[in-house]
Amino acid sequence: MILVTGATGNVGRHTVAQLAELGVPARALVRNPAAQLPVPTVVGDLTDPSTLPAALDGVSTVFLIWPGFAASTAAEVISVIERHASRIVYLSANVTPETKIFHNDVERLIRASGLSWTFLRPGGFASNTLGWAEQIREGVVRWPYGKAARSLIHEADIASVATHVLTTEGHEGQSYVLSGPEVLSQADQVRIIGEAVGRTVTWDDLPPAVAREELVAAWGDEGFVDGALAAWAAMVDVPEPVVDTVERLTGKPARTFHQWAEDHAEDFR
Ligand SMILES: NC(=O)c1ccc[n+]([C@@H]2O[C@H](COP(=O)([O-])OP(=O)(O)OC[C@H]3O[C@@H](n4cnc5c(N)ncnc54)[C@H](OP(=O)(O)O)[C@@H]3O)[C@@H](O)[C@H]2O)c1
Repeated sequence: MILVTGATGNVGRHTVAQLAELGVPARALVRNPAAQLPVPTVVGDLTDPSTLPAALDGVSTVFLIWPGFAASTAAEVISVIERHASRIVYLSANVTPETKIFHNDVERLIRASGLSWTFLRPGGFASNTLGWAEQIREGVVRWPYGKAARSLIHEADIASVATHVLTTEGHEGQSYVLSGPEVLSQADQVRIIGEAVGRTVTWDDLPPAVAREELVAAWGDEGFVDGALAAWAAMVDVPEPVVDTVERLTGKPARTFHQWAEDHAEDFR
């Protein structure tokens, strides 16, 4: 039995669908008991570890997705998981040990546990561009660092890797860096979304200081905003890397950003 957390989100939604299609026994941890998913649901909350033992009853493997910007209950959560399950697949990020992000803390806790672990380390999600939906509807995206070049990954490809790792052997102790198949500047991403939607959308490069103010107001977490701005600035000179992990593990080439934009055209209309 596999327990999938974050099952209503970008990656988890595809993961439970793929596991259900394969007929693999799986259940989804949800906060909202009314959530409609293709696998049975069980109510629980990662910020309240006391809700987890019931969800973990009979579970051997957990696919852990940690939402938000902080993981203050991670130590307790991992210790509850360790008492019930033997294996964990963690959706991390493409971090180095120096990166100041909670994923490093969660990875450290998992490594120190007795669980058999695999880390998925994607770079930028294509679904991040959904944050531009309102501006795309208005025809102009005002954002910093139009030349920042990213290898955005389709959430369904992260889920395909997760499903493969969750259902096959030989991944213990592996950290898999994941990316999409090509590098595109942020301005090009906006143009491609415009093409998929059938309208012209232009890029208006926002000065970083103005963007910082607006993003802190929108996202609320100054550290996260500063990290994002620094990462985009760096990607102007050094594009996010492209790796072949999706194809190597799943046997299928990673989906292009054009494909992602076609799949999500309705979200921008
Ligand atoms: N975006 C990127 O570029 C990027 C890159 C690398 C790594 N990541 C990592 O990927 C993860 C996000 O994945 P995603 O985009 O698939 O997620 P998402 O779409 O943001 O969805 C978050 C999921 O977590 C659930 N959730 C929220 N709070 C919860 C709680 N307290 N307890 C239990 N479940 C809770 C939500 O369920 P409800 O239905 O209850 O809200 C939802 O299913 C994050 O850890 C992020 O750091 C993101």
